[in-house]
Amino acid sequence: MDVVARLQADRPSFHQRGAAKWDSLPETLRQIQRSVPDGGSTLETGCGASTVVFAASGAHHTAISPDPDEHRRVREYCDRIGVDHSRLRLLVGLSDEVLPGLPAERVLDVAFIDGAHSFPYPALDWYYITRMLKIGGQLVFDDVPVPAVAPLFRHMTLEPNWRLDAILDDRAAAFSLLAPPAPEEWSSQPFNATYPDYSFVSLSSRSRLVAAHRLRRLRADLARRYPRLRRTWKDLAHRPDPDAGVDDLAAGAEDFETAGHARAI
Ligand SMILES: C[S@@+](CC[C@H](N)C(=O)[O-])C[C@H]1O[C@@H](n2cnc3c(N)ncnc32)[C@H](O)[C@@H]1O
Repeated sequence: MDVVARLQADRPSFHQRGAAKWDSLPETLRQIQRSVPDGGSTLETGCGASTVVFAASGAHHTAISPDPDEHRRVREYCDRIGVDHSRLRLLVGLSDEVLPGLPAERVLDVAFIDGAHSFPYPALDWYYITRMLKIGGQLVFDDVPVPAVAPLFRHMTLEPNWRLDAILDDRAAAFSLLAPPAPEEWSSQPFNATYPDYSFVSLSSRSRLVAAHRLRRLRADLARRYPRLRRTWKDLAHRPDPDAGVDDLAAGAEDFETAGHARAI
């Protein structure tokens, strides 16, 4: 049976006691269908049509959502169309409360993020789920146009340990995890390469801060090329620093730039 076609034909309602239909779209459901190895280990936040597809793919599947009525409806629909749901584990709860209690072991072949969509929940789901994903496993997430979801996409497209496999329904994305994440170090993370982002301050402060940042960068470049200059600056250190008080992060900026991660503003 083609379970995605069957869902399209039957149009069952799993959400809000049957009053809403928040299903993921067909290409996204097909991506899940294609990616799940028979007997694989999978997990999603949220529940509904996607849960039926995971079950029909023969996965040992965990779905987390706060509404037990959704779980009942998913099981009943599986019974109706003859999908074995004995490998489904449906956990009632909020993903930010349930996920931290699951073992942080790389056991998942495929995971799907489509639970709470307000900030910061997609990022929390992403954090806990990626630490459970096998190297070579696939992470799919829906609703990239939602601003609380978009940073996941931006981060993953920049990081070399993720590969974008597909954009689905002009709305969802599928990535493969190629290697474990790099150790925590904010300044070498491609996501942070646009540091410093002063868009949060007023236009006049922004110009001053950007100018001070450029000056520091220039000084760092010169000091790298002409080490004797550094000594001269040290000798002049008793003089007031024109950049003093610009910001606290500035102290680390020189190292950051020396490491070759700064971009032209
Ligand atoms: C867009 S729907 C998921 C649709 C589903 N992927 C499908 O194909 O039918 C969002 C789901 O997230 C669940 N949800 C809402 N808040 C949640 C939270 N904090 N943690 C986990 N799930 C949540 C809702 O109950 C609902 O099942």
